[in-house]
Amino acid sequence: MSSPRFPYAPAPESRAIVNLRPSYGLFIAGEFVDPVDGGQFKTESPSSQEVLAEVSSAGPGDVDRAVKAARHAYENVWGPMPGRERAKYLFRVARVIQERSRELAVLESLDNGKPIKESRDVDVPLAAAHFFYHAGWADKLAYAGYGPDPRPLGVAGQVIPWNFPLLMAAWKLAPALAAGNTCVLKPAETTPLSALLLAEILQQAELPPGVVNIVTGAGQTGAAVVNHPGIDKVAFTGSTEVGKLIQRSLAGTGKRLTLELGGKAANIVFDDAPLSQAVEGIVNGIFFNQGHVCCAGSRLLVQEPIAEGVVEALQRRLGTLRLGDPLDKNTDIGAINSPQQLAKIRELAAAGEAEGAQRWSPACALPERGYWFPPTLFTGVAPAQRIAREEIFGPVLSVLTFRTPEEALEKANNTTYGLSAGVWTEKGSRILYMASRLKAGVVWANTFNRFDPASPFGGYRESGFGREGGRQGLAAYLRGAFDA
Ligand code: NAI
Ligand code: MG
Repeated sequence: MSSPRFPYAPAPESRAIVNLRPSYGLFIAGEFVDPVDGGQFKTESPSSQEVLAEVSSAGPGDVDRAVKAARHAYENVWGPMPGRERAKYLFRVARVIQERSRELAVLESLDNGKPIKESRDVDVPLAAAHFFYHAGWADKLAYAGYGPDPRPLGVAGQVIPWNFPLLMAAWKLAPALAAGNTCVLKPAETTPLSALLLAEILQQAELPPGVVNIVTGAGQTGAAVVNHPGIDKVAFTGSTEVGKLIQRSLAGTGKRLTLELGGKAANIVFDDAPLSQAVEGIVNGIFFNQGHVCCAGSRLLVQEPIAEGVVEALQRRLGTLRLGDPLDKNTDIGAINSPQQLAKIRELAAAGEAEGAQRWSPACALPERGYWFPPTLFTGVAPAQRIAREEIFGPVLSVLTFRTPEEALEKANNTTYGLSAGVWTEKGSRILYMASRLKAGVVWANTFNRFDPASPFGGYRESGFGREGGRQGLAAYLRGAFDA
C-alpha cells in the first residue's frame, strides 16, 4: 500500500523564542537558588536526545527550605490576604501565560516530545484557562457550597508527572492558590523545564515570595515533599504504584490526600454511531499525546456488526498520521517521553503478540535518534490479555468487540481502573443508560479527551480519588463546615 500521506515541506516552529539557560536552580522563596544537599541532573529532548539543560535535584534539606518558605508565606502573606487580592495575582499569571504562550509551547515540545500543535492548542491554552477559572473563584469561596467561610488547609505538597508538565502544574497550583494555600511543587524528572519557566512567570507576575516553591528532582525528592511533616495536603498525579506507596506512608499523619492515577478507559462504539466522527474520536482518544494520557481510550469496544468496517477505517486514518519532529506544525505523533517508557510500551506490545492478538501498524519510518513508537492496533484481543488490562501509556490501541449494551458494560467495567470512558451512539437514551452504569469518573459521549477547568476530573478504584477542576476540585484545598 503506497503512503496516503500528502507530501509537505518541513514546517518547524523556531526554537529562537526559547531562552534556555545552561543550568537551573531550585525555585524557593521567590528566587532561583543552588541546592544545599542535592545535586544536578540533565534533561534531554526525547526526539533528538540532545541535552537541553542541567537541572537541580533537591535533597531533604532543600525540600525543608521550600516547605518553610511556603509556611512563612502562608502565615504572613497569602493566608491572611483577601480572596479578591489573591485573584488579581492569579489573573496576572493567566495573562502572562497567554503572552508567553509560544515560548511555553516550544519549550514543552522540546522537553516532552509532544507535537507543537498539541502544546500550542491544548496544553498551554488550558493551563491559562485553569488560572483564569480559579482566579474567578478566589473571592467567591463562600458561595462554593463549603460553608460560609471555608478556610485553606495550609501548605500543599504537589507531585506531578511528565505527560502534561505545564498543564498538570496549573491543575495543581491554581485551585490551591485560589483557596489560599501555598505550594511546594515537584515536577517530573524528565520534564522540569516548563515548570521552571512558569517560576519565571510567577516572578514576572510579582507573586509574593514563598507562595509557590518548585523543587526539581526524581522520586526521592517527591518522597521528601510528601513525607515532610510541614505539609498539610498532598496532591499526586502519576502511577498507581507510587500512589499506593504515598497513601501507605501518609496513613495516620492527618494529611489530606488526593490521587490521580492510571487508567484503562473503554471507548465504546455502537452500530448506530456517526462512524467518521467516531473514527476521529478513537484516534484522538489513544494517539493524542502519543497515548501518554491517563484517561486515554486505550480499549476500543466496538459492536460486532460494524467491527470490521471500523478497523478498516481506522487503518486508513492511521496511514495518514505523520510521526516525527515535535516542533513541526504538521506532526501528529511526537516522541515517546523517555527510554524507560519506550521499553515499557515495547514490552507490553510484545506481550500482546505472544498472547495471540494481531498487531498492525501503518508503514511509518521512525527517526534514527530519539525515542519513537509507531501507532499500533491490536485486533482479536481477549479481555484476559495483558494489553486489555494493563496501562500501556503509549500509542497502542486494543480492539475488543461486543454484541449487547450489557456485554459492553461488563467488559468496560472489567478493569481495576475507573478514570474515563467514551460512548458513541446516535441515541440519547442509550448515552444516559451507559453513562449511569459505567464505573468511570468522566464519561464522554460522541467525543473524547475534552477538558474544561469547570468540569471535575478524577477516578474510581485504582485510578485514585478526589476531583480536580470545577467547584468539586476546590474541596480538596478547603477546610469546610463539615471538617472538625
Ligand atoms: P511515577 O509515578 O513514578 O512518576 C510520577 C511522579 O511521581 C514523578 O514526578 C516522580 O518523580 C514522582 N515519584 C516517583 N516516585 C515517588 C515517590 N516514591 N514518592 C513521591 N513521588 C514519587 O510514574 P513513571 O515512573 O514516570 O511512569 C510509570 C507508569 O505510570 C507509566 O508507564 C504510566 O502507566 C503511569 N503514569 C500515569 C500517569 C497519569 O497521568 N496518571 C502519569 C505518569 C505515569
Ligand atoms: Mg516511576
